[in-house]
Amino acid sequence: MLYSIQKPKISLQFTKSCTLLAIESSCDETSASVIVNGQVLSNIIATQDIHYKYGGVVPELASRAHQQNIVPVVQEALTKANIDKNALQAVAYTQGPGLLGALLVGCSFAKSLAFALNIPLIAVDHMQAHVLAHFIEEPKPVFPFLCLTVSGGHTQIVLVESALNMKVIGQTQDDAVGEAFDKTAKMLGLPYPGGPLVDKYAKEGHGQAFQFSKSNVSGLDFSFSGIKTSILYFLKDKTKNNSNFIEENLKDLCASIQESLVNMLMDKLIKASEATGINQIAIAGGVSANSGLRTRLEALGKEKNWTVFIPKFEYCTDNAAMIAMAGHFRFQEGIFEDLGSISNPRLNTFFINTL
Ligand code: KG4
Ligand code: ZN
Repeated sequence: MLYSIQKPKISLQFTKSCTLLAIESSCDETSASVIVNGQVLSNIIATQDIHYKYGGVVPELASRAHQQNIVPVVQEALTKANIDKNALQAVAYTQGPGLLGALLVGCSFAKSLAFALNIPLIAVDHMQAHVLAHFIEEPKPVFPFLCLTVSGGHTQIVLVESALNMKVIGQTQDDAVGEAFDKTAKMLGLPYPGGPLVDKYAKEGHGQAFQFSKSNVSGLDFSFSGIKTSILYFLKDKTKNNSNFIEENLKDLCASIQESLVNMLMDKLIKASEATGINQIAIAGGVSANSGLRTRLEALGKEKNWTVFIPKFEYCTDNAAMIAMAGHFRFQEGIFEDLGSISNPRLNTFFINTL
């Protein structure tokens, strides 16, 4: 497989001075961040605990919690950065993908603030922002690089040609890997979100203890529905004669599930590096917080002579600092939304007056 790689269209030199507020509200974290000339000064994240008892994110509850959180979170982000709202030069927000009602809260708040302050509004793609989280701190990758973006809703191998130019060269055909972690965790009786708990128990288990069959997909695409079904039938079979099977083997089960999922990701990443000839490899998204994935990538990096980029935990799961970084790149290029298309910004002025 051959991929033509274009030269970066924009440089990493931050030429235009830029003080920007960014808002993230795509799922169940309400987050705001202030970035000044490419330096993140604050990154406030309010997690919504209300979903735990439902075993997953309830969209309507997420929207309502965003509405409650957004003013204090933005206020805290400005205070921590020591920036007055009148010093802002732009507002960035997550346009999508995400839960519609949740996105609408961040979007309408950002639009209203930009309108009230008469400053540009910047729409940011959530998945691109996960990739651009790598530019928040040193060491920063050099274009072009590959990024395995793994979250609750996506699993992609992205060829990153520049901050604005990214090609998805491989993706899941069904479930996302984060979903596979969360759903199999649920089968083990673990609460939502199960991914971090599988990671925790896996640390004390044996990754080779149990084997699960996986569906094979050609090329650089992924499929996680097969392994999920395989784990389900495996557990049904084992608990038939021993109802304590899961309790007795929880650590080994978590380690084996994690090792299988990480192997599936790494197999395709190796293929992608071979197909593109690129050996700068990054990971991003919530699942990049997984310790098994991080350790395996570091080991592979040494073995394959890759330069590996692993984000700080704070920038793996959903956060507004990554939206701020993506917004910063768009500000440099003057890519703004048309504020004239706002239907009725007055609807949201009550938010702004409280800042
Ligand atoms: O990027 P993210 O915060 O939100 C989405 O955009 O989806 O990713 C959330 C996903 C969830 O599926 C969660 O279980 C998973 O990331 N996750 C983990 C870990 N931390 C978060 N999965 C495995 N191990 C972890 N340590
Ligand atoms: Zn995300």
